[in-house]
Amino acid sequence: MPVPKNEAAWLVKAGSPLELGDAPFPTAGPGELVIRNAAIAINPLDCHMQDSGVFVQQWPAIFGCDIAGEVYEVGKNVERFKGGDRVIGHAINLTSGRPQDGAFALYTVIPADKAAILPDEISFTDGVVVPFALEAAVCALSLEEPGVAMPGVASPALGLPYPSLHDVTSSGKTLVVYGGSSSVGSMTIQIATAAGIHVIAISGAHNFDFSKRCGAARVFDHKDTSLAGKVIEAVREKGSEFIGIFDAIATPETYANDITILEQLDGGHLACVHPPPLTTDLPANVNAGMIFAVNDVVTPVWKDYVTPALQSGKLQCLPPPFIVGKGLEHIQSALEKSKAGISATKLVVEL
Ligand SMILES: NC(=O)c1ccc[n+]([C@@H]2O[C@H](COP(=O)([O-])OP(=O)(O)OC[C@H]3O[C@@H](n4cnc5c(N)ncnc54)[C@H](OP(=O)(O)O)[C@@H]3O)[C@@H](O)[C@H]2O)c1
Repeated sequence: MPVPKNEAAWLVKAGSPLELGDAPFPTAGPGELVIRNAAIAINPLDCHMQDSGVFVQQWPAIFGCDIAGEVYEVGKNVERFKGGDRVIGHAINLTSGRPQDGAFALYTVIPADKAAILPDEISFTDGVVVPFALEAAVCALSLEEPGVAMPGVASPALGLPYPSLHDVTSSGKTLVVYGGSSSVGSMTIQIATAAGIHVIAISGAHNFDFSKRCGAARVFDHKDTSLAGKVIEAVREKGSEFIGIFDAIATPETYANDITILEQLDGGHLACVHPPPLTTDLPANVNAGMIFAVNDVVTPVWKDYVTPALQSGKLQCLPPPFIVGKGLEHIQSALEKSKAGISATKLVVEL
């Protein structure tokens, strides 16, 4: 059978627009899959990579983290997938640096351990919103021991249970999720509540219903000038063990509120999507860290949870996709839309 042609949206140098061009046709190594992509999603990380070249290890580069499509080739030692399966998966060019591991191409290599069958009734454009956010959520919640997120910055270790396919009784624990309408924050709400955690979210006022749909018990407006006080009161009212805060926004403004909340609630975890405040700026008894969303801690969730949870509706494809266009040529405008800012949506390009 003739090998199909691969094409990609290449980053030739930092700060330049993506350029469409031919790409080598990838092959699946042991434990890997080659996917014929039907949809890819955009993440803020992609914009940072394009603008500054951060994390790029090989030039020219193909990057991008989220894919949905059909299995084209199955590598050795892979038992869960066969050719033609519809899947979603997390592409890990971020850590491998290999262009064939970037999402912004017609064909991408992914580790089979970061893929799951997409139920037939879910479209590729819906399913593709899940992978990177899922990986980030599980990294935020379930690491048992702190690792290294980047040199000198520890990853958080909340040690919380994995999400369950069954209705679990309350764990007796409360977590605050700052950024409850963002892609990573809303997925963390879904995963935490499926593990029996009581979640109090902080979102835009127009996204309260959205955060509740993801599972948040209470939601507060990030623009409310009394935000920290209201969150503290809600945690106290619940009366269960306060785990801490997952800050999916991680700006000086959110850190100021995190610090007030943690101070008043006698400390806890502060898991952030960017490097946390300096220890000297934090109250006592705070374990702060930054997540790094490529980690084997997520493997059991990919293997045992994602497909049945999507099937049962326990895992929802949220935030909903906004389809920017069809074809690799639309990735550049999707990146520009992402930089301009989005609210409770995920930018998706069909291929
Ligand atoms: N370290 C890692 O491994 C890792 C992994 C993934 C992502 N990240 C980082 O995590 C961040 C979030 O990524 P994402 O894809 O989830 O972003 P996103 O979906 O693009 O974020 C958009 C959302 O941010 C919310 N937001 C903005 N300012 C806010 C504030 N002050 N308080 C509460 N919510 C606020 C908006 O809420 P409203 O519209 O409701 O106002 C909007 O819905 C990015 O900086 C990304 O680079 C890091």
